[in-house]
Amino acid sequence: MKIINSIDKLRDELKKNNKSIGFVPTMGALHDGHISLIKQSRVQNEIVVVSIFVNPTQFLEGEDFDSYPNKKEADIKICELCKVDYLFMPEISTLYDTDEVLIKAPKISGFIFEGEKRAGHFDGMLQVVLKLLNIVKPKNAYFGKKDAQQLSLISQMVKNLYIDVNIVACDIVRENDGLAYSSRNVYLSKTQREESLLISKSLKKAAKNIGMGEYSSKILIEQMNNILTQSNLVDVEYISIVNRQFRKLESVELQNTIILVAVKIGKTRLIDNIWI
Ligand code: PAJ
Repeated sequence: MKIINSIDKLRDELKKNNKSIGFVPTMGALHDGHISLIKQSRVQNEIVVVSIFVNPTQFLEGEDFDSYPNKKEADIKICELCKVDYLFMPEISTLYDTDEVLIKAPKISGFIFEGEKRAGHFDGMLQVVLKLLNIVKPKNAYFGKKDAQQLSLISQMVKNLYIDVNIVACDIVRENDGLAYSSRNVYLSKTQREESLLISKSLKKAAKNIGMGEYSSKILIEQMNNILTQSNLVDVEYISIVNRQFRKLESVELQNTIILVAVKIGKTRLIDNIWI
């Protein structure tokens, strides 16, 4: 594995071999969720590129940019073990100019749910993903369904800007007890970690009730809210039932529904979802 922090060097390396490139962009602090994306990319491509870059432009004022978990040594080991070919770890000044052309998230789908709670977040996220896709020029790029709205907006950007890449949507990976892996889980205290299980519990319950014929969004959301509010440590930000285009649904449409949850536990924001 080669660790590269210069754009020109990475491009020179990738130009050398005319092979299919799979790309997994991350912000590091790698966990089993990231690893599943890397493994899928390893199986489906000749060359695998992983990037680790904590992107300042997608963090809002007061968010955890300065304290975002940094596990550089462990991350390098993980990438080596996953047989990554190139690990791209640029500096901020390598990727960003002082005065730049900006990317704007779509006015509607970019400013609901996460885009409403974190106004501006998706602009910065799309900006860096576009840069990275242009640098790596992968055949396939891998993103997790865990960040469902991010995945949807990236797919929309690729379509709207005619970017020549195949976006691969990867399943959510969970710990044995159901908590979806997230780099931010390390912020949770032991008690908060226990209470966070209500998130996946509420999603599983909704899936079970849908299986038993309950399709009403209102009722399903009420049932989920009842579960989440069992703990006074869990502060529900939103529970919503949407179609794959993130339009709210009054009743569940099989194969076209995502149930979204966002909560705050202490200072930590956690998001999760289930695809029906
Ligand atoms: P990061 O949070 O590091 O996540 C990198 C990728 O891993 C994303 O596509 C995310 O959806 C996926 N992922 C995270 N947890 C997962 C889980 N439990 N199961 C499956 N996939 C999971 O998302 C970002 O970084 C950034 O916004 C980025 C796209 C790199 C742009 O800066």
